[in-house]
Amino acid sequence: MLPLVLFILLAATLLFWKWQGNHWRRLGLVAPFGWPLVGNMLDFALGRRSYGEIYQEIYTRNPGLKYVGFYRLFNEPAILVRDQELLRQILVGRNFADCADNAVYVDHQRDVLASHNPFIANGDRWRVLRADLVPLFTPSRVRQTLPHVARACQLLRDQVPLGRFEAKDLATRYTLQVVASAIFGLDAHCLGSHKRMVPASRWLEWLAPLFQPSVWSLLETMSLLHSPRLGRLIGHRYVPLPLQHWFRELVEARSGGDNLLQWLAESKRGLGTEELAGHATTLLLEGYETSAMLLAFALYELALNEDAQRRLHIELDEVAQRHAGNLIDPVALGELRYSEAALLEALRLHPAMQALQKRCTKSFTLPDQKPGASSALKVPLGTVLVLPVQAIHLDPALYPAPNQFRPERFLIQPPVGCRFLGFGAGPRMCPGMRLGLLQTKAALATLLQDHCVLLADEDQCRVEVSPLTFLTASRKGIWLRFKRRTRRY
Ligand code: HEM
Repeated sequence: MLPLVLFILLAATLLFWKWQGNHWRRLGLVAPFGWPLVGNMLDFALGRRSYGEIYQEIYTRNPGLKYVGFYRLFNEPAILVRDQELLRQILVGRNFADCADNAVYVDHQRDVLASHNPFIANGDRWRVLRADLVPLFTPSRVRQTLPHVARACQLLRDQVPLGRFEAKDLATRYTLQVVASAIFGLDAHCLGSHKRMVPASRWLEWLAPLFQPSVWSLLETMSLLHSPRLGRLIGHRYVPLPLQHWFRELVEARSGGDNLLQWLAESKRGLGTEELAGHATTLLLEGYETSAMLLAFALYELALNEDAQRRLHIELDEVAQRHAGNLIDPVALGELRYSEAALLEALRLHPAMQALQKRCTKSFTLPDQKPGASSALKVPLGTVLVLPVQAIHLDPALYPAPNQFRPERFLIQPPVGCRFLGFGAGPRMCPGMRLGLLQTKAALATLLQDHCVLLADEDQCRVEVSPLTFLTASRKGIWLRFKRRTRRY
């Protein structure tokens, strides 16, 4: 019996390999060799390497090609785009309409609130949902959120940890405090007003673990990026049920005030409670985790790079001098150009999303895979196009010495084109970028105005990225410590 089973398995494997090899070869494309069932994602499926690292390997191993065919999980043929001009056409240019949908799977029946998220919605629904949110992020609207940010910064200043601390934990407490206040006008009690951490609040208890690495998060990432069937099998919900109930309660119990939800309700009077709860969910979930990760990685890179930190301190002192010591002021924050460059550089090195994934909704033709190859490709309907953000950010042809933290890159040249995709690009680009940068810059200034940040242990290794999550996370935390400094103004 056993030999027969082994024989069947072997035959199935060979058939898979033959089919795989044929698929892209038939279309005249170069594609790396893949495994049955897991395609080129074996290490990702085993939780050994992040999906961003795998895409980076495919990107790096194929110099000279504009795009590469490869196999995603479950042997799904997909295309990884390398060429800058092609990326521009897909994200911003003439092919945007052919692949405007994000390739993420969420069950809209089970995940009702998540389905209001423009990141998840597609087609006309995406357009409507995005149009509701964009007016909340104009420069003047974002400036109006500053009192919420300032209150959270005050709490943060009062409780800078004295010993070693985990930077992502501190950053999440801060961003949750900001978003709860800015969206609902509520105090999330994530930061105490005294020099000690407060006991866990409901916000922390329910939201902080949501994006943490675990075996479960690997399964969730697989179902989100690759398979609706797997999602149904494991009962995955992008927004867990208790959170959905709680968000609806919060929206029903809201009582006016100067906050994002109130502005939204006033400007779009036709929105019902369910739509408002959907938008509140989007603002909350998109609003805290990516910013917290960025703040934690920026602190980490500054701890590693003394020169950059010195330059940042000089800027904080100079700007503080011009503003009577108050950095949490709209003009002062606007003058913190090096601090902003440090954040962009941290996001280049540690993008929140290691790749953007779009789905072809209208077949279109890609140019030759390489010059003179005469291998133009008609992209089949439904094909996933992977835009490998991490690989692009670490490409030495686009960023000399790509692994070094050099905020100056973004001082000399602001992020242009598709070389920097930390917030995406084009019509789907992150609408909350200004708020994300505002809250992280304010926190960075608050923490570093009176402190230097150092690695917790001198012999500490570089932070490792977890292979188990959809949004970038560190494997074992980011451990740092502060040392007091004297301001020079
Ligand atoms: C530093 C912080 C942030 C980073 C790094 C970040 C990054 C991103 C990225 C990479 C995308 C995908 C873009 C694409 O598909 O092309 C995105 C989409 C989105 N972000 Fe952000 N984001 C941040 C903060 C925020 C904040 C604070 C909000 C709102 C409160 C927000 C709301 C959204 C929404 C609604 C989308 C979906 C847009 C669409 O598909 O039309 N983000 N973000």
